[in-house]
Amino acid sequence: MKNRSLFVCQQCGVSYAKWVGQCTNCGNWNSLVEQTTEVEFGKKSTIEKGRASGKKLEFVKLNTVVPSDAKARLLTEFNDLNTVLGGGILMGSVSLLAGQPGIGKSTILMQICAEVAKKHNVLYISGEESAGQVKLRAERLGAKSDKLNFAASTSGNDIAKTIETGEFDLVIVDSIQTLAMDEISSAPGTVSQVTNCGNLIIRAAKATDTAVIIVGHVTKEGTLAGPKVLEHLVDVVLNFEGDRYGGFKTVRAVKNRFGSTNEVAIFEMSQDGLKEVQNPSAALLAERTNTDGSVILATMEGNRPILVEIQALATNSNYGYPKRTASGFDINRLNLLIAVLERRTKLKLSDKDIFINVVGGMKLNDSAADLAVCMAIASAVAGRKLGEEYVVFGEVGLGGEIRSAFRADQRITEAKKLGFKHAIAPRTIKNPFVIPAKDLRETLIRYVK
Ligand code: TYD
Ligand code: MG
Repeated sequence: MKNRSLFVCQQCGVSYAKWVGQCTNCGNWNSLVEQTTEVEFGKKSTIEKGRASGKKLEFVKLNTVVPSDAKARLLTEFNDLNTVLGGGILMGSVSLLAGQPGIGKSTILMQICAEVAKKHNVLYISGEESAGQVKLRAERLGAKSDKLNFAASTSGNDIAKTIETGEFDLVIVDSIQTLAMDEISSAPGTVSQVTNCGNLIIRAAKATDTAVIIVGHVTKEGTLAGPKVLEHLVDVVLNFEGDRYGGFKTVRAVKNRFGSTNEVAIFEMSQDGLKEVQNPSAALLAERTNTDGSVILATMEGNRPILVEIQALATNSNYGYPKRTASGFDINRLNLLIAVLERRTKLKLSDKDIFINVVGGMKLNDSAADLAVCMAIASAVAGRKLGEEYVVFGEVGLGGEIRSAFRADQRITEAKKLGFKHAIAPRTIKNPFVIPAKDLRETLIRYVK
């Protein structure tokens, strides 16, 4: 037996014999961490051993299997979140709730616990906060059931053992980055700790049909810190996104073995915890003043139509290289749209700093936002307002042509509901509400005169 060092990439899990600055597999810099493994020499090879020890699988007729969807689901107090989960938290499922520190993960989980603990046994395990701290939050959120239990622990072994007792219907683990297993020497938060603790917990959950929600912190860039690997192991991955300070926060499933990934729940932080936003469009438009550079986009958040204000600001560049900044919109897409605007219309933007802001902390992930962004930029540069009666949507092609958008009917219905008179939208949509837009140049000349 001999101890040997391995260097394991914390982003993708590939191991190296020597330290290197950049992982050749995933391209990340400085992501390698040393781990010691025990290597046995002079024994049969692992492959041979593995071959000898395997046995034939036991299989079942698929017809006789009870679908896991038929199992009970635990309902949270949030209707939209239940929908995101595919109808509540499935017994025996393991979910990962990922989000930046401070976004409200512990808050939403305590609110979920408060509701579920009205009928079921719930255990909240925290590796970050003491019982006293969690109690303060629970009190504020109005959680006072006798079935709500708390434990402070950072031991993966102990947590798995506790889940295995089957005493609880729902267990929260806050957070995976704080856990460690005795058998592994590396620090908490490293790939090996995260995967092994994750595996241990998942096994315990499946064996006892316990629903488990694991918290995972993500970095500012939006990737799970360390445990990207965990996403493959769990049943459901929920992303908690938005502004840390004010604004809307969204929870969406980026992976769901028991439901669709198109739904989204929208929240707002208040004095007493997170509240679901019932009418996001109205809330987003409430503070609007119609200035130049402001355009209302009819977008989709998952399956939901939402009207959101896009703001553009253009100033003269002081340096040779113009600055482009976007909040809530993809910066590469913005650069592309600016290039299309310069080439396909007569707008001169090379000496302008351009800033784009999506109001309310929304993060747009909709190609039909293109036209609204282009019109906002044109309006800001020309210093002219767009009429108050218009909403805008449509994708912009490299030729400056306006391309069709999915779910146009839903967008139009939402716009009508909020009192808009017309939609500037792709001409392929046959609807009297729509003023057909063919190409960018013509549309800008017509509306941003
Ligand atoms: P928290 O849920 O602890 O974030 P995370 O677990 O994701 O790191 O709390 C997020 C922020 O929300 C925190 O700064 C305090 C604030 N907050 C409220 O505004 N109202 C509340 O009722 C609670 C519990 C927290
Ligand atoms: Mg927390």
